[in-house]
Parts: sequence; C-alpha cells; structure tokens
Amino acid sequence: MQKPVGIIGGGNMGEALTAGIIQSGLLNPGDILFFEPRSDRKEYLQKKFGVSPTKSNQDLVSLASTLILAVKPQSVPEVLLEIAPWITPHHVLISICAGVPTDYIQSFFPHSIRMIRAMPNTPALIQKGATALAPSSAAKPEDLSAAEAIFRALGITVVVKESQMDAVTGLSGSGPAYIFAVIEALAAGGVIEGLAQDVALALTTQTVFGAACLIQATAKHPATLRDQVCTPGGTTMAGLYAMEEGGFRLALMNAVIAATQRSKELGEALQKRASQYPSVTPNVKRRKERVKKNSRNIKVTRKLH
Ligand SMILES: NC(=O)c1ccc[n+]([C@@H]2O[C@H](COP(=O)([O-])OP(=O)(O)OC[C@H]3O[C@@H](n4cnc5c(N)ncnc54)[C@H](OP(=O)(O)O)[C@@H]3O)[C@@H](O)[C@H]2O)c1
Repeated sequence: MQKPVGIIGGGNMGEALTAGIIQSGLLNPGDILFFEPRSDRKEYLQKKFGVSPTKSNQDLVSLASTLILAVKPQSVPEVLLEIAPWITPHHVLISICAGVPTDYIQSFFPHSIRMIRAMPNTPALIQKGATALAPSSAAKPEDLSAAEAIFRALGITVVVKESQMDAVTGLSGSGPAYIFAVIEALAAGGVIEGLAQDVALALTTQTVFGAACLIQATAKHPATLRDQVCTPGGTTMAGLYAMEEGGFRLALMNAVIAATQRSKELGEALQKRASQYPSVTPNVKRRKERVKKNSRNIKVTRKLH
C-alpha cells in the first residue's frame, strides 16, 4: 500500500478507520493524514491517535496517493469538485459513501480513476464490521489488496461486483438494524414471560452474539446448527413453529428485498441529479484550468498544520 493514506472526513467512520488501521498495526499514526473542516474533530483525532491533519483536501491529495472518501453522501459533489483537478493516475480513491455509485463518482473526472467502492456497516465502528468491496474497471489488483487490508482492520471483507452493491446495502448495510429489532423483540418476549428487562436484554444479546460466533467457529450452515438443537416434540421446535406461523423468515427476506430496491432507487435518483448538473466533467476541466492558472501565482502550501 502506498503511504501515507489520506482520509477525507474525520467523522464517525473516519475515526473508526483511523482506530482500526492503527490498532491492527497496519499503519503507524505518522502514515495517516486527514482533512476535516471541524476544528474540534481535527484536534480530537490529532490528540487521540497522533495522526496529522492537512490544511485542505487539495493538500491531502497532493501528499497521499491512497485516499479514503469518508464524508456524508450529500458532501460528495463538493469534495469531488474540489479534488478532481488534483487526482492523477497514481491515486487510488476508496469511497465508503453509502448509496453513491462508482459511475456517479467517475462522472466528476475527465479520465478513468482507480477506485474501490466499499460498503462497511455500523459494527465497523468497533472493528466488528462486514465490508463489501467493488473495484472500478480502472482499479489495479494492488488497489483492491490495499482496500482489503484497510477494511480487514475493521472486521471482515468480501469482494463483490458493483452491480451487487445494492444487495449488500440491503443485507449487511441495513442488517444491524434488523438484528437490533430481532433482539428487541426476543427480549420483549422474555419480559412478557416474567424476566427483568435488563436480564432479558443481556441474555438475548449474548445469545445472538454466541449463535453468530458458533456459525463462524464451526463454519456450519445455520440450518444444520438449528437442527442440532431441535428435539422432536421439544421446546425449540414449538418456538420455531410459532416463528414460522408469524412469517418470521419471510419478513426478513422481504426486508432485504425492500432495502435493496430502495438502495437502487436512491442510486438512480443520484445519477439523475448528476445528469442535471450542466455537464460535470467540463466543469471539472474548467476548474482544473482555473486552478492551474491560479497556482502559477499562489504557491500552494504543502506543509501540514
Ligand atoms: N456510520 C456508519 O456506520 C457507516 C456505515 C457505512 C457507510 N458509511 C458512510 O460513511 C460516510 C461517513 O459517515 P459518518 O457516519 O462518518 O459521517 P460523519 O460522522 O458526518 O462524518 C463526515 C465528516 O466529514 C466532514 N466533512 C464535511 N465536508 C467535508 C469536506 N468538504 N471535506 C472533508 N470533510 C468534510 C464532516 O464535517 P461536518 O460535520 O462539519 O459536516 C464530518 O466530520 C457516509 O457517506 C456514510 O454513508 C457510514
């Protein structure tokens, strides 16, 4: 991986990435640069992790060739317009922006960029995430390896096609919310049956955690593990029958289908908005020319804060 790595946006995910990368030993704090407009966040990250802020996104791009875009989706156009003139064939852009398609990002650049689209989920904030990675057509194998190394520091990674990113969003992206709902409902069942709320929640959370760990540790299919705990005529079979009657499995399958569909719709709306901009690429070209002209007069500061 090309060092240093530059993180655009020092919010929740920018912090999670910084923490994971340093704690896993992948990089030293000195190998991580970031740009964050909020001075409180900037100081916090600098103090907590020893990473260095830059004065601007432009400075970040000039100092780091591996860049991670970690801003809210609505800030993406602003950031891309700012950095596009400075992105060269040596740069790799890793975007974690949920629901922002690769083609949309590519439309801000006059040439094909080396890009990896990553879709992590919220447990990445505690290094227990599941991240899907999709390389752009111009990405090199080493770009994907670098992204895999970065996101392994936040949990597990899988590689998918860009066209599968909506399904990833519907499954693992939205998945933590489904599981929170499952945990809440199971715990409520325990409370109805007379358990104290905290006891019910502790038992449920550990049960879900333990069951997930058992699948990972044994590498057995969940249906096999389920069969192993079902005695004919026993309590678990009675519970599973009630779940089946309530359409539990169908409800979860439909949740993934509905969220995938919504992700597709949001992506399409974004593409439509992009096509309404008066030709983004020529804008970028004009901006690039303007910036080049200005840079003859203004010496761009390359120093860190
Ligand atoms: N949180 C998750 O678990 C999760 C999971 C999957 C994907 N994601 C994706 O990760 C991205 C970041 O999410 P987040 O939760 O970390 O958001 P966040 O906490 O709002 O962090 C974004 C940070 O970027 C800063 N920012 C705004 N404009 C900027 C600019 N022009 N240049 C550099 N930084 C700028 C924001 O500052 P201000 O506050 O001043 O605007 C903020 O501190 C999103 O696109 C989201 O879809 C998040």
